[in-house]
Amino acid sequence: MNLRKKQLSAALLSSMLVASLLVGCDKEEATPSASSTSGEPTSTSIVAASPSPEVRPVITDPASTAVLVNKEYALPDDYSPDDLVYPDVPFLFKEKIEKRMMRKEAAAALEKLFAAAKQDGIYLAGVSAYRSHATQTAVFNRYVEKDGEEKAKTYSAVPGHSEHETGLAIDVSGSDGKFAAEPGFADTPEAEWLAAHATEYGFIIRYPEGKEAITGYTYEAWHLRYVGEEISKEIGEKGITLEEYYGTVPVSSGS
Ligand code: DAL
Ligand code: ZN
Repeated sequence: MNLRKKQLSAALLSSMLVASLLVGCDKEEATPSASSTSGEPTSTSIVAASPSPEVRPVITDPASTAVLVNKEYALPDDYSPDDLVYPDVPFLFKEKIEKRMMRKEAAAALEKLFAAAKQDGIYLAGVSAYRSHATQTAVFNRYVEKDGEEKAKTYSAVPGHSEHETGLAIDVSGSDGKFAAEPGFADTPEAEWLAAHATEYGFIIRYPEGKEAITGYTYEAWHLRYVGEEISKEIGEKGITLEEYYGTVPVSSGS
């Protein structure tokens, strides 16, 4: 098939796909995908290949609780949250230091989550929450020295790419501190409780088991990310990641 014919059949396929996607949609729902009628085959194939039927614009505003930060999407170089507070929950340490802080809305939600866990006999503790860009740089460099860059990147974010820099993420453990931020945490009652209930309080387990090829990171049963209740509940119900919620392509684990 020559190039012109290829383009024509791609355009035909694209309008057929758009037409089938529009069936059953009311006008308002159909509006966002209407741009696919521009004859651009790639935009249609993104719609068709998406694991979620909805395609949403990726939120990159670092101050939004819905911001996507991963190997592909970085934070602006100079970003630091302006509403960091100390959540009133136990941590594994006593000091009022940087890693005890979270953004105000996330901190309030965390207090509710910890209180609900306690009601169920689950005693949680914070391990590490906010990290400045400088701290994430030090943390990442330490892991590179220990394990080499390639391996470090499978479990630690390159500075500028860590959710801890948003003030919306926290690593948690049981109050005994056993398996704090270690793979063994996955088999604890605390991890089981978080997997079952975190989404009720606006949090998601950000790097789930079996989704490594999508998130780009090994399973972290302890890393909670605040996204707000609407998003967390949808993610929980569908059993998806934040990448899948936005319909973005899998993040390469090698980068
Ligand atoms: N451990 C996660 C990926 C981070 O460094 O933000
Ligand atoms: Zn973490």
